[in-house]
Amino acid sequence: MAPSVTSTVTVTEPVSVPKNLKTPSTSAPTRNCSRPIPSLPADLGLLDQIPAPRALRALRARQRRRHHLPRPPQPHHHHQHTHHPLAGTEVRGVQLSSLSPAGKDQLARLVAERKVVAFRDQDFKDLPIQSALDYGGYFGRHHIHPASGAPAGYPEVHLVHRGEGDESSKQFYASRTSSVAWHSDVSYEEQPPGTTFLYIFDKPETGGDTLFANTVEAYNRLSPLFQERLHGLQATHSGFEQAAASLARGGIVRREPVANVHPIVRTHPATGEKSLYVNPQFTREIVGMKKEESDAILNFLYSHIAWGADFHVRVKWEQGTVVVWDNRVTQHSALVDWENKQRRHLARITPQAERPYETPFQG
Ligand SMILES: [Fe+2]
Repeated sequence: MAPSVTSTVTVTEPVSVPKNLKTPSTSAPTRNCSRPIPSLPADLGLLDQIPAPRALRALRARQRRRHHLPRPPQPHHHHQHTHHPLAGTEVRGVQLSSLSPAGKDQLARLVAERKVVAFRDQDFKDLPIQSALDYGGYFGRHHIHPASGAPAGYPEVHLVHRGEGDESSKQFYASRTSSVAWHSDVSYEEQPPGTTFLYIFDKPETGGDTLFANTVEAYNRLSPLFQERLHGLQATHSGFEQAAASLARGGIVRREPVANVHPIVRTHPATGEKSLYVNPQFTREIVGMKKEESDAILNFLYSHIAWGADFHVRVKWEQGTVVVWDNRVTQHSALVDWENKQRRHLARITPQAERPYETPFQG
């Protein structure tokens, strides 16, 4: 398993959480997690205020022509946005918690296209926890992490926490050179997450950014010859090591670990884009290859994704930020780069998506 300082920072004991994370439990929503993301509805919602990628704007224009819809309201002057050319959008002036179902569908589509979107000035952290879960449940059945910290009664909420005064990074850096550990979340599950929400409660004054890589672009950068070779290959993904690591540091394991086989090239159900779906945290071997062959190809793909700063984007957290990414078409890494022992505390809502599948190579 790749180095993971992050695996040491999720707590398994109940931690001090904001009041809204302590609301009594009710049953968690379950929806059909294999439900594909619907295409953009004609009923344009709140997200129409967000400047959209070119393809999305063209689609909306076609829909307006077809349905004779009026032009949507133009963005208010305080709606700011910055687009990395290949991934990542920053949005201000849209409140996620007030999106209609149509707006949520558009959100899923926007995130699939832009891979990761940072929404600023959100009220998510102030919502009762059940409301946050109800909201996330629209996008799929909640994933329950086998080995991470959660608020009492809410195993669906994945906490990422480094307490004030925590010095565990010193121990980590005694034997490792970097905290960077690229991965897509829990890829060992049969149905790993899709549209994923991460929101912040406490952050260090500076540092603690999150890196994202666009794995569709990583696929597109490969030669057609190499792309074609990857099609049809499958790799095993294992959660056993993560569970063992949790036990070794006195943490919990909620259920028996699992391993699953997924295609190396994964197709997104809504956009049809193909992405590389292997990561050094959880992928172990290519099915049917000898170890040296498998290692050579996987290590090339890992370094290709990690090296590609020209298809990476870096999220700088602000108070009130909610980051939404599509776990099918991205990888990410935490960064432990602050040394003043300040608290960093986030919560993740992790709806599951379809079982990964691939569509044929198209040269
Ligand atoms: Fe993660």
